[in-house]
Amino acid sequence: PTEQRVADLVGRMTLPEKVGQMLQLTARDGVRHLVEEFHVGSILHASPERVREAAELAGRSRLGIPLLIAEDCIHGHSFWEGATIFPTQLGMAATWDPALVEKVARSTAVEVAATGVHWTFSPVLCIARDLRWGRVSETFGEDPFLIGEFASAMVRGYQGDGLADPTAILACAKHFAGYSETQGGRDASEADISRRKLRSWFLPPFERVAREGCRTFMLGYQSMDGVPVTVNDWLLNEVLRGEWGYRGTLVTDWDNVGRMVWEQHIFPDFTAASAAAVQAGNDMVMTTPDFFDGAQDAVAKGLLEESDLDAAVARILTLKFELGLFENPRHPDAARQAEVIGTAAHAELNLEVARRSLVLLRNDGTLPLAGGLTAGPDGRAASDGPARTIAIVGPNADDPHTQLGDWAGSSGQAEWLPDGHPREMITTVLDGFREVAPAGWTVTHARGADIVVTGPDPEGEFFPDGQPRPDVALPAPVDEAMIAAAVGEASRADYVVAVVGDRIELVGEYRSTATLELIGGQVALLDALAATGKPLVVVLLSSKPLVLPPSVADAAAIVYAANPGMRGGRAVAELLLGLIEPSGRLPISFARHAGQQPTYYNQVRGQHGHRYADLTQAPAFAFGQGLSYTTVEYSGLRVLTPTVDLGGTVRAQVELRNTGSRPALETVQMYVSDTVTSVTWAEQELKAYRQVPVAPGETRVVELELPVAACSIVDAKGARVVEPGEFELRVGPSSRAEDLRRASFTVVA
Ligand code: IFM
Repeated sequence: PTEQRVADLVGRMTLPEKVGQMLQLTARDGVRHLVEEFHVGSILHASPERVREAAELAGRSRLGIPLLIAEDCIHGHSFWEGATIFPTQLGMAATWDPALVEKVARSTAVEVAATGVHWTFSPVLCIARDLRWGRVSETFGEDPFLIGEFASAMVRGYQGDGLADPTAILACAKHFAGYSETQGGRDASEADISRRKLRSWFLPPFERVAREGCRTFMLGYQSMDGVPVTVNDWLLNEVLRGEWGYRGTLVTDWDNVGRMVWEQHIFPDFTAASAAAVQAGNDMVMTTPDFFDGAQDAVAKGLLEESDLDAAVARILTLKFELGLFENPRHPDAARQAEVIGTAAHAELNLEVARRSLVLLRNDGTLPLAGGLTAGPDGRAASDGPARTIAIVGPNADDPHTQLGDWAGSSGQAEWLPDGHPREMITTVLDGFREVAPAGWTVTHARGADIVVTGPDPEGEFFPDGQPRPDVALPAPVDEAMIAAAVGEASRADYVVAVVGDRIELVGEYRSTATLELIGGQVALLDALAATGKPLVVVLLSSKPLVLPPSVADAAAIVYAANPGMRGGRAVAELLLGLIEPSGRLPISFARHAGQQPTYYNQVRGQHGHRYADLTQAPAFAFGQGLSYTTVEYSGLRVLTPTVDLGGTVRAQVELRNTGSRPALETVQMYVSDTVTSVTWAEQELKAYRQVPVAPGETRVVELELPVAACSIVDAKGARVVEPGEFELRVGPSSRAEDLRRASFTVVA
């Protein structure tokens, strides 16, 4: 049995081997020293050649312990040429379809496993708060319930039927916990967050996957109340391992242990920091080479017993045994790669996710274009009407990097894949229109504006460890000639599709933005396009919700596309031409102004000065919003269980009627408002939803169920409780008050 094999092996390991087993180092500078000097247990960011070399070296080491190969495969295998890159998590969340996303994780695991990687640092369970944060696109949005649904699905997809399955990879729930509670949106700041606030909004998705068997957790960079998560005994031991009974493995984020010395200055040296990290229960220390000497020195100085390392080493070895790495090291397998990476089936799934992720935010009837077309036998739209000209303009109409988003080869982590993924696998919006517009239609293109110019940081900033900070991206100047060329194309066209947003340089770790406005030449471009009077469809292809300028308030249509992945451009073209129906819903609110932060819908109620004097507090677009090409009316909300006890289930029904001429995939959302709470609480929270197809003219009765336990709040003592009394059920197509029907129920003790 595994336990015996683990105990036997731990018993034969020397102190340096144990410390090394807890180390994960990057393979950037070669692997021989990692295995021979540091005896590392794991490597990350390694090219296939280095994975193979390191695995062979480990196999020949004294005890022959195999390595865990880790990689950030975030929405597909980020750093593998030819791998399928899906929409980012934010895009996936806009589908509101966790079952579909489970398929994404499963097919990602199949591709990733063939490359010799055993462990992905995904999914992200952080809750989006300040939209200026650079990592919003990595989240599933702003709602803990929705995040939990998607995170659970992704973990299931990665881990498959169990680790013994050669296509299963380890999932990693990150970044535990509170990382997204930034200061001013800036990355990895001290999180000003109480334990009660953590329990209320940040912890529930983590608790869910911990209890469901996610095998690894990554600890965030930040500190809370002055204590870095890496050594936060309350969070790691009382809550995670204690209350939730988590038996999995903990990995730090990048150099968390070192940063406690050189950045946070809470330990004088690596000896003290390493001892504290071990005592707090960390199992794997990411990219702190000084941990190797530090931990051994801590044992020599009596700060640690050698046996203090055993539990961590045992947990890592358990993963290796359960993955079967001792018998089958799962090396990169070229034949298998050719068979499973970037397959037609994965490309089709990718297209399906992209289609479902698009959110139609505004439509004056211009969409679908030309009244809506149907697909001909060649996959192109067929039209027997007059031939039309569509001008596809804007900086993101044909930008493969930004379309894929962060963690897709181009974000700099993998120097062996500098150009990202093969261009021919990526369908930009321009490509998409060329692919599917009816034969005989004309598709023209002009870039119209640039977004940023990048270069070395003019302030020449360096990290305290001497590494230069990444290049900065400054807004590009307005280029009148580019705008004039775009306006020229627009004036000759029947329709104008402007694809705007942010750029890859403005997204990711260390890449938070001070503003949310469209930057560079984009606002001037949109103003000029709007002034042409041509029907203007704005496609916002951006890592996060951005603020749209006043000139597009009257645009014919607005679509939010997030970073829609390799096939995203085709999905956009299909949507605009009416080959598919819009069904995405926002998993996150849109601000009207960067200064309006935060805008998330589930803020605590009763804030006396809740709005600015010069701006309404209503978001530009609210959580849950998204239109169809038809209208679905809600009526007759009825609670079937007006009185329920604490262990009961609330059941309700509502009638939907499709009053238009096109089919809808309606997302029926159920929010709960607890009328009186013993502590201040959100006015309403999403607690359940269902996606139902409704055919033109059809009326459907939809039943919804909700366990009373889900109507809990976190009381003043930090306990999750359901407080008996009156509740209001709010059901409708979005979180907006005007979209919701209401009915009451009572919970009795
Ligand atoms: O997995 C990531 C994490 O999300 C941010 N810091 C680096 C890690 C490894 O690349």
